[in-house]
Amino acid sequence: MTTEHKIALLPGDGIGPEVLTEARKVLSFFSGRGDHIFSVEEAPFGANAYFDHGNPFPKQTVAVCDQADAILKAPVGLAYDEAVKIPVDMQPERGAVLPLRKRFNTYANLRPIHLPAPLARFSPLKSSIVANGIDIVLIRELLGGLYFGEKKIGKDENGIRYAEEILIYDEIQIRQVLTAAFEIAATRNGVLHNIHKANILKSSVLWNEILEEVSSDFPDVTVVNMLVDAATTHMCLNPTQFSTMVMENMFGDILSDLGGGIIGSLGFMPSACVGPEKSYFEPSHGSAPDIAGKNLANPYSMIGSVAMMLQYSFDMNDEAESIWQAMQKVFDDGFTTPDLSSLSPDSEVVGTIEFGDKVIENLELDSN
Ligand code: IPM
Ligand code: MN
Repeated sequence: MTTEHKIALLPGDGIGPEVLTEARKVLSFFSGRGDHIFSVEEAPFGANAYFDHGNPFPKQTVAVCDQADAILKAPVGLAYDEAVKIPVDMQPERGAVLPLRKRFNTYANLRPIHLPAPLARFSPLKSSIVANGIDIVLIRELLGGLYFGEKKIGKDENGIRYAEEILIYDEIQIRQVLTAAFEIAATRNGVLHNIHKANILKSSVLWNEILEEVSSDFPDVTVVNMLVDAATTHMCLNPTQFSTMVMENMFGDILSDLGGGIIGSLGFMPSACVGPEKSYFEPSHGSAPDIAGKNLANPYSMIGSVAMMLQYSFDMNDEAESIWQAMQKVFDDGFTTPDLSSLSPDSEVVGTIEFGDKVIENLELDSN
């Protein structure tokens, strides 16, 4: 019996449409093979959607997402000089991405920082540190903290301009993401690094209190508590000590980009934003307007987001694995994307489209 999966595709801005095109090729490859059929519907989202429809997350896109089983979202955003032409609350990060996260209650953001040993040359770290690769799942809380707390900007009674944002978490939000993190750690090496700032932030004090409570349900998981500032140093000097890390929203935003740095590129950073009913999948990187339309973008994170979608939304673990293998084989065969070329000077540089084509060729080889 075949199952049909409805996928909403959000092409976004900048390099978004190009990398999404490559991801679509991979989806079409799997559609109708085995028991799964994908029906896709594209809908406007981001700065382009604002210019065309007056809203970066227009009603028709909300409807397409509501009806979908999963959402595949490309990066959004414009260069700063262009972005400021859009009213602050309609800029796509605030006006589209956060409402998307909130609408589908995607509280757990899984960001693999994964560089398999054969690709270790792409890390800027010394080979003595990364020879065996890096394999971390960073879990970022995605619906709380500074991102969603009340914000004000104004002048005080003396005419001094100020801005205020509230970092707020409640125990339900904290418990749900920590439970997800313990579950993931239990399927990995059983060690969970809890990244916090309880020496200053009350939100971290509460976070750690809840962590104690949740940990009693997971006796086989060992918790290592680490301050967020120290964690950044550890990620550079000794990243292989980490397997599963969990942290609040803003810490996760920053440390996941650091993760992209230690494995060579944000081009290697797909992600899953997991909610109770449906999840959405997106690269962790931005829309890189400077290289848009030039066939220079690395589509690995976007295609990797398809792999995560197959795994997390549709239980297609073998297919997901074959995507990772097919992408790795492109590099093993001596090719590289432009973002990584300086880290692998002997490789032949291929563009966005050629990388996508090679992934499909490798999937075809693998399926024969
Ligand atoms: C990310 C991005 C987003 C964030 C932006 C686009 C809202 O930087 O997913 O890491 O800050 O969460
Ligand atoms: Mn970010």
